[in-house]
Amino acid sequence: MNRAARATIDSSALRANLRALRGTADARIMAVIKADGYGHGIVPVARALADADAFAVARLEEALSIREAGLSNRIVLLEGLFHTEQLELSAQLGLELVVHAPHQLQMLDAVSGSHRYPVWLKLDTGMNRLGFEPGAAAELVRRLNDCAAVRGPIHLMTHLANADDPDDATTARQVEAFGDAVDGLPGERTIANTAGMLAWPESRADWARPGIGLYGVSPFASRNGTDLGLRPVMTLVSELIAVKTVAAGARVGYGGAWTASQPTRIGVAAVGYGDGYPRHLGNGSPVRLGEATGRIVGRISMDMITIDLDDAPDAKVGDEVMLWGDGLPVETIARLAGTIPYELLCGVTGRVAMRVV
Ligand SMILES: Cc1ncc(COP(=O)(O)O)c(C=O)c1O
Repeated sequence: MNRAARATIDSSALRANLRALRGTADARIMAVIKADGYGHGIVPVARALADADAFAVARLEEALSIREAGLSNRIVLLEGLFHTEQLELSAQLGLELVVHAPHQLQMLDAVSGSHRYPVWLKLDTGMNRLGFEPGAAAELVRRLNDCAAVRGPIHLMTHLANADDPDDATTARQVEAFGDAVDGLPGERTIANTAGMLAWPESRADWARPGIGLYGVSPFASRNGTDLGLRPVMTLVSELIAVKTVAAGARVGYGGAWTASQPTRIGVAAVGYGDGYPRHLGNGSPVRLGEATGRIVGRISMDMITIDLDDAPDAKVGDEVMLWGDGLPVETIARLAGTIPYELLCGVTGRVAMRVV
């Protein structure tokens, strides 16, 4: 029997989250499933979200795996092409290309052949990462329309830098700058990520691009996905592989980072940073043992964690330990580890067996 860390991916939660997000905005949905479906497995995620109007990915290989799984949804390559050599495969896969920089325009200008690529022109309205100056939008649309390899109309996009902070005026400024830049241009528009969809109605546009919300997780620091009507998709569990009582004064784990103040039952669970469980969790961070809460004591090791079983007196070898999931939000663990849930989900490593239900 496998006692090691494993994850369950709940397809019905993915579908429910897609429905819930759809319900918040009169917009088509470009489901963001890059980074292996935010660590949930791109193919099972794509299958569960086959009702999405399009998928968005960051890498050509991600698009390839979606097509190889037999899915024919529209796919947008969010960072566009990295090299000319990617042109042919993206044509074969029927991808829609984001164009965010002059070298990508030049690639399309130089391409021969009869394929015509659908294009999303990306404008930088304040993220200062990818995209053209908003003021250049009309001229760029004209250039793209003149390009034989491009199929019009040119769609228009931008990305929000601070939408997860409902009090930050940057988002309103970005939305306004985008609106001014694309005014009068044909083509569909997309602005919003999950936070934009939920907190900034003016960013919803023709298409929304939710990622994290589809996985049941909140983009907002102070709220969990369940507060937003979303259901967690990933449950990460392992099992106790040892239980022992340590004496008062015993120091547990590497560096002796925790000292027992009294005789304490310690459970050892088979999960660690080698599985993507964050090493920076401090003493007292919660795990679930059925209805009981265990508290991490000592440092997280590569393959193991040590848990104070004070609240779970009956816990024994073989019992399941939940690291995050339904009832223990990954948002909580991320906060305690000083990171964001995106990083934890994407960071689950290849040795964690994934079961899709
Ligand atoms: C361009 C773009 N759009 C949309 C998203 C989805 O964002 P979120 O997961 O916060 O909904 C991302 C994610 O990083 C992105 O890079």
